[in-house]
Amino acid sequence: MVISKNMENLVANSSVIRRLFEEGVELAAVVGRENVYDYSLGNPSVAPPKIVKESILQILETKDANYIHGYMNNSGYEEVRDAVAESLNKRFGTDFVRESIIMTAGAAGALNCILRTLLNYKDEVICFAPFFGEYRSYISNFGGETVVVPANTETFQLNLDVLDSYITEKTKAVIVNNPNNPSGAVYSAQTLSRLNDILTKAQERIGHPIYVISDEPYRELVYDGAHVPFMTKYVKNCLVCYSFSKSLSLPGERIGYLAIPKQIDAYEEMQSALVVANRCLGFINAPSLFQLVAKECLYEETDIETYDKNRMLLYNGLTEMGFECVKPQGAFYLFVKSPVPDEKAFVQEAKKHNLILVSASSFGCPGYVRLAYCVSYDMIKRSLPAFKKLAQTYWPQDAGAAAHGGAQGQENTAGQNHAEGQNDAAAHGAAECGKERENG
Ligand SMILES: Cc1ncc(COP(=O)(O)O)c(C=O)c1O
Repeated sequence: MVISKNMENLVANSSVIRRLFEEGVELAAVVGRENVYDYSLGNPSVAPPKIVKESILQILETKDANYIHGYMNNSGYEEVRDAVAESLNKRFGTDFVRESIIMTAGAAGALNCILRTLLNYKDEVICFAPFFGEYRSYISNFGGETVVVPANTETFQLNLDVLDSYITEKTKAVIVNNPNNPSGAVYSAQTLSRLNDILTKAQERIGHPIYVISDEPYRELVYDGAHVPFMTKYVKNCLVCYSFSKSLSLPGERIGYLAIPKQIDAYEEMQSALVVANRCLGFINAPSLFQLVAKECLYEETDIETYDKNRMLLYNGLTEMGFECVKPQGAFYLFVKSPVPDEKAFVQEAKKHNLILVSASSFGCPGYVRLAYCVSYDMIKRSLPAFKKLAQTYWPQDAGAAAHGGAQGQENTAGQNHAEGQNDAAAHGAAECGKERENG
């Protein structure tokens, strides 16, 4: 092998998702594209709003080409950072200034800048299961270790009861993703305040700050009137990673920002190091044209109606068949409990019905699967008979509906549907969710 050990691990893990995608393509060649129900990818299905195209054209026609396409300050155009700071202050009552904003290559770029800035070899970063699997790669990029706090599978809220026991002198950061991919959970202001209390005490004990990295690409994607509190108002040492990938359906354009509140410990040191991180990681600066486009779209509302319709069709359809799901309050994923402990076997069984689901082991939560419902409404409708057949594999007499509860009136406050006749084995699988401490 010429590639590094670290890279070898990354390649081995990423090939799981690639294989899934390739299997979907192979399946489509055999049964036809319209008969494959691919729930694997979080690629927005809603078109970017009109203002995106209009802004591109207007910018190209009215601004100097060398300004649009040239290098600028590594942290981004001043006019864009001013506008981002102002929009945050107007919407959330914060006090960001130009210097507190760094334009980045999406939320992923922002996360990598923070981890590059904070981590020494073997420093630890805490993630709450279930979590976006790429965090592991980002942490390992800088020699860090991912420490996984097990999921609270009753509520899928942050498992704060056990957080403190996972904090060591090597803990540098905690990543919180609100709304959450893959569970769709939204964390309340009360939860965030409690997180702050726990970290404040731990920081005193270990003698250095623990920064909360608030990863917010799904900030605007919330349903049923759910409210996403602005994290810096509740957590003192918090850095915000934002992305326009989902809110404006622009994941390929790689545009987002990092917001650094002045209240954090070592603000000036962190701010200047983060700008250098953006440069030395090779991003240099965020894509120039799309910085300018983002500036024009800061107050654009995201079309969540389409995702909401998808959410309800899939959630109601599956729970009526007896599948146990978390009712998502945000993002565009449905987190479904596997009817058998080994969710990889469930994923294989689903594939027999042309259903492509993602095992949640890669999200630190075995015993569950993730369905991305940022697909067409029509595909979801067409896939329901396939899910019904899949349900019959596990509950042959009744296809789930009667014996396993159904959707109506079965939610608890956290929005999880507790079907009756819950499979003990599946419950066991879920109990193992996130019980790991692993190398990054
Ligand atoms: C939770 C989470 N964080 C970060 C990202 C990366 O976002 P971006 O593509 O905007 O960098 C994603 C993308 O799906 C995500 O789901």
